Amino acid sequence: MHPDLSPTPPVISELAAELWTSAAGVLDANWAGDHTVPSRALHPHQWSWDTAFAAIGLAYVNQSRAWRDLRSLFEAQWPDGRVPHIVFDPATAEDDYFPGPAFWNVPAYARRPAGGSTGLVQPPLHALAAWEVYRHAAAHGAASAQLARTELEWLYPRLVASQQYLTDRRDAGGTGLATIVHPWESGLDDSPAWDDALVAVPADLSLPEQSADHARHLGLALSYRDSGYSDNDLAGRHDFVVECPGFNAMLATAELALAQIAGVLGHSAEAQRHRDAARCITAAIADRLWDPLTRLFHARDVRTGRLSPAHCVNGLLPLMLPDLPAHQATAIMAAVGSERFGLPAPSYDRTAPRFDSRRYWRGPVWINVNWLLRRGMLVHGYVEEAEELRRAMLRLVHRNGHYEYFHPGDGSGLGAAAFTGTAALCLDLLADRSAPAYARSVLVPARGRSTSTGLSSRASASLAS
Ligand code: GLC
Repeated sequence: MHPDLSPTPPVISELAAELWTSAAGVLDANWAGDHTVPSRALHPHQWSWDTAFAAIGLAYVNQSRAWRDLRSLFEAQWPDGRVPHIVFDPATAEDDYFPGPAFWNVPAYARRPAGGSTGLVQPPLHALAAWEVYRHAAAHGAASAQLARTELEWLYPRLVASQQYLTDRRDAGGTGLATIVHPWESGLDDSPAWDDALVAVPADLSLPEQSADHARHLGLALSYRDSGYSDNDLAGRHDFVVECPGFNAMLATAELALAQIAGVLGHSAEAQRHRDAARCITAAIADRLWDPLTRLFHARDVRTGRLSPAHCVNGLLPLMLPDLPAHQATAIMAAVGSERFGLPAPSYDRTAPRFDSRRYWRGPVWINVNWLLRRGMLVHGYVEEAEELRRAMLRLVHRNGHYEYFHPGDGSGLGAAAFTGTAALCLDLLADRSAPAYARSVLVPARGRSTSTGLSSRASASLAS
């Protein structure tokens, strides 16, 4: 047997074995030779943060594909360090996806590999993904462990360059936070978190899109493109410049993962530098994006200085950060337990008048952000809640399928079926029954974290309960 292939799901119940097999099948079906597509039907190219999620799942079932996926994405990295949000597959026709390569018209140096890319970015989850793949390599045998070491060495300087691009070129507010220049960069495309900032963006309804919001999205992409994808004076001349709490929580998490990677590669001074960077980003999030009235994190519009009033799932994600002040972690958990959210968390406040159970990022449940939220719970010692969330996610997917997102009321599947991110993270959730190990070994312990050892018996309970 190929040393990369793990034939046995590391779980015991029948339902879990069934889910494991279907999830691994989705990853297999979405493998496109050197990368995984998010879904054959709707997303026929390579997406940046989807690649990170794919690698986290592939780490269990096919280590060499996990590394190949990450490598393909970083082969398309721009000279300034940015990692494109989509890398286009030259085998997919221009007409099969809009906006495709012709729309983005990136500079010649960015047309590697052949299909080209967009000039936007997505949340920087790749360092965490690389660390996760590395962590599981040894379980697949000596050849996988050797491959992991080689790939980590190749990736490390590229991951660092991507962080530098975001923390330097994208710090448009001069606050120590990275800004996004387009809602698509957040990964949470249509979230109400962007509504206020988008009001200032002109909507050209002659473009081939129906809604005003999508016209604004396209207009923003065109205006960034026409600037040559320049990040000079963003706050002065670009119409959308926003600090997102989720994006920045992932930026800081990447520094923590890079600290681990640097340690493994023997760069101990750099490891400390990454830990310091994570602390600075955490402090800036805690300071700039916290609303003491709502007791939640919100996106800040750098041009107006205003916080978005919307209560969105990205406001929960700073929980991933071990140095988050305890009162903010407690408040996030209170929001999670309140009628606004619940578990699994919907993408938007259930009590908001504009909450929409079906509309993309404006109500439905996504596994990817809930997976991040669960990590945050583990980091801060909310072990029982993390286990409740793990089981709720697995039940949802087992009952409804590997959908892109889910109705927050009846759980029915929405968007693309056979979605890579959902399937990949299910593998991790199934395998990761002893996940407090993550909080203990991967991240620097938070001050005053509570500990619990009560997970293992609860975790082995049936998914159906
Ligand atoms: C949508 C999602 C985004 C994802 C992409 C590909 O644009 O909002 O998060 O990366 O689809 O799956």
